[in-house]
Amino acid sequence: MAKEIKTIGVLTSGGDAPGMNAAIRAVVRKSIVNGKKVKGIQRGYAGLLNEEIFDMTPRDVSDTIQMGGTILRTARCEEFKTEEGQKKGAEICKKHKIDGLVVIGGDGSYRGAQKLAAHGINTIGIPGTIDLDIACTEYTIGFDTAVNTAMQAIDKVRDTSSSHERCSIIEVMGRNAGYIALWCGVANGAEDILIPERYEFNEQEIINNIIANRKKGKTHHLIINAEGIGHSTSMARRIEAATGIETRATILGYMQRGGSPTCKDRYYASMMGAYAADILCKGETNRVVGYQHGQFVDFDIDEALAMQKEISPFQYEVSRMLAI
Ligand code: ADP
Ligand code: F6P
Repeated sequence: MAKEIKTIGVLTSGGDAPGMNAAIRAVVRKSIVNGKKVKGIQRGYAGLLNEEIFDMTPRDVSDTIQMGGTILRTARCEEFKTEEGQKKGAEICKKHKIDGLVVIGGDGSYRGAQKLAAHGINTIGIPGTIDLDIACTEYTIGFDTAVNTAMQAIDKVRDTSSSHERCSIIEVMGRNAGYIALWCGVANGAEDILIPERYEFNEQEIINNIIANRKKGKTHHLIINAEGIGHSTSMARRIEAATGIETRATILGYMQRGGSPTCKDRYYASMMGAYAADILCKGETNRVVGYQHGQFVDFDIDEALAMQKEISPFQYEVSRMLAI
């Protein structure tokens, strides 16, 4: 028989993402409506190990849905990667009578949730990362806000780049994943999109492309470079030396991770938060919430972590074709 959950904990972990507050708000309110107590855990697994735990009421999440970042704060915690840390975390949950836990974060955070589940704490993950790099879901909280923020910034760089007839390299976030670069590359009409999944470090090909585009009459050349490839400033110097065309690098950085969430991030995060609370209340554990084919769904964490996310060959091909 499924274990009856009385108290639900909620934490955010790993990189923050706009929309996390909407997810927290939904977890808190739906759990309370379902008759459960809710405890907020500050600073991810680090806060759990430090017992930074407090009771939450529906009023604690008032006026938060429009806020970027996470009201619970977030952290990375090496100690939690150890067996001892995980055991201590589970004991602290038991001490505070937290029998169900919602973890909002990326796949690293899911691994932590998986370990707590193995120690008897029912856990559910919600995908919170601007990188969109979680295989079991087509949507992750924060991606929509991040790409819209980046897109607007890139439009501005494009204006000055055109005026000066320059080449611009704009570095966007994504240490291991190129989704932000791919989406912005298409949405901003970039001539080149460099993503960790595909880039073959053939700078000569980019240089040839810039020279060919000048001959075709293009007044600027926009290169969107993912953080995982990096080195935008030195790349700009080499491209300028090889082409004779003024080339500048702009690194957008953390501005992409902040700011008020878009409607989509608020809406999907709200649905995922409520969904997570509901399945926890049904006694589910070791699961993650996802969005697939127009539906909110859930997967076993072990299966979700074994899935591989691939850049769609069609979408990548189109991104290159549109830059002619
Ligand atoms: P994200 O959740 O965004 O992928 P990280 O990979 O940095 O971010 O993971 C966030 C935190 O999750 C880590 O700091 C650590 O506390 C926890 N974590 C990551 N991997 C593991 C693991 N293998 N076992 C237990 N906890 C982990
Ligand atoms: O939140 C995702 C992400 O922005 C990645 O794109 C990047 O690799 C990482 O977080 C950097 O985060 P931090 O600098 O906080 O370690």
